[in-house]
Amino acid sequence: MKRRQFLRMMTALGASSATGMLLPKQSVASEADLEVVLAAVKDRIPVLPGQPTGVWRYQGEVIKGDPGQLQNLPNSWLGPTFRVQKGQRVRIRFRNRIPQESIIHWHGLHVAPENDGHPRLAVPSGEEYVYDFTVDNRAGSYWYHPHPHGLTGYQVYGGMAGLFLITDKEEQGLGLPSGAYDLPLVIQDRSFDAQNQLVYVRSPMERMNGFLGDRIMLNGRADRKVSVKGGAYRLRLLNGSNSRICRLAWSDGRMLQIIGTDGGLLERPLQVPDIMLGPAERVDLWADFGDMRKDSRVSLLSIPFRSGGGHRGMMGRRSGLVLGSRYELARFRVVSRGTGPSRPPEHLARVEKLVPKDAVNAEHPKRFLLEMRHMQPTINGRTFRMSEVAPDEMVRLGQTEIWEFVNTGGMMSMPHPMHIHGLSFQVLGRSGGPGYRFLDEGWKDSVLVMPGERVAVIMRFKDHKGMYLYHCHNLEHEDLGMMRNYLVRDQ
Ligand code: C2O
Ligand code: CU
Ligand code: CU
Repeated sequence: MKRRQFLRMMTALGASSATGMLLPKQSVASEADLEVVLAAVKDRIPVLPGQPTGVWRYQGEVIKGDPGQLQNLPNSWLGPTFRVQKGQRVRIRFRNRIPQESIIHWHGLHVAPENDGHPRLAVPSGEEYVYDFTVDNRAGSYWYHPHPHGLTGYQVYGGMAGLFLITDKEEQGLGLPSGAYDLPLVIQDRSFDAQNQLVYVRSPMERMNGFLGDRIMLNGRADRKVSVKGGAYRLRLLNGSNSRICRLAWSDGRMLQIIGTDGGLLERPLQVPDIMLGPAERVDLWADFGDMRKDSRVSLLSIPFRSGGGHRGMMGRRSGLVLGSRYELARFRVVSRGTGPSRPPEHLARVEKLVPKDAVNAEHPKRFLLEMRHMQPTINGRTFRMSEVAPDEMVRLGQTEIWEFVNTGGMMSMPHPMHIHGLSFQVLGRSGGPGYRFLDEGWKDSVLVMPGERVAVIMRFKDHKGMYLYHCHNLEHEDLGMMRNYLVRDQ
């Protein structure tokens, strides 16, 4: 880290932080289990037939530790997939080589504020920011992406995103499908011009609604075909789209076997015919191709739903891939004979249950109104200010709180996928919405709040003091300022 950044970081942290990060650099360096250089670069990659596509993406290199912990995806704009073990100490040198300021946020990770990628920590083009943290989350599928204020949607759209997969002893003891049978599937939508170049938002209206592309991309590639062997797979789905919501279902009508959500494995598998998957949400599926014949096919689809408010009608005209219509996300072809049907373990993992009586505000949950005001998405009427924290955005270290996100509904209302940094929460309940099946199980960090709906979540603020974000993960909404700080203070 350059001295200037370090000083800036110190200032940003202020006197309130007493974390272990601010050790002399030398003593930190020697202790990392995995050290990685992760550069944000401009690149051109083959995406569609014909001209290569200009992208911005992350390029990684292991400089200390096991090189196998970083998996580069060929011909993809996605950054390398991290595979780390809970308890490992990782040190990541982010080198900003794109012509904009940037910073990396580790989505879902429970890390100290200086490792969280708050926009106030963004570094200019040409500079470096060093992350150093011990992986403390449960096993699960997390991810990383840029977080500079006002530029997040643009940079993620350009290709900057990657997976951060964590495993732990409990998960390893289960013998879930692994290696080639552990298959991440990142769903994103994009539009291209006639020269194969990415097209982003073209109008204020499009920005207000959230960008919708006219084709689905899988793992940063145009090819949505996946060859699988006739056995059981763990499919780790991430909706990495800027604003697109999917309603997942299998094309042959079989049930979705959900084994995990944002923050890792559920207590037991859950069988549902379909599930809503909002931006930034993850779902782990047990997919059994073991009783399928060689060369047979099955697809994961997004099936019809209504997104409500003004969103639906407008988007219907604007996008080649109408939000809430029926389209394919991934097509699986079975390339070898099946090994027979199989089921996920009946008990997957321990999930500590947070209950309302643990919350200091059980009688008076904090309420956050999600509202469009004159084309401006707001939270309790407010928008983002770099270091502003309102009284109702202050919480105490060690305490548990209930927050209620209230989508006020009405003509202009649209879905808001709400995300809280630095922790995992649990969904206590939802009401007033369209009644679809949502990913409300297990540990979560992002939750879809539909027009007219209220969703209550419960969380504990532990280990780290300081400033974190909560925001709408419709990245255009986030960039428009539908984001706020919350501050974890001393007991
Ligand atoms: Cu994935 Cu603040 O976001
Ligand atoms: Cu996040
Ligand atoms: Cu929103």
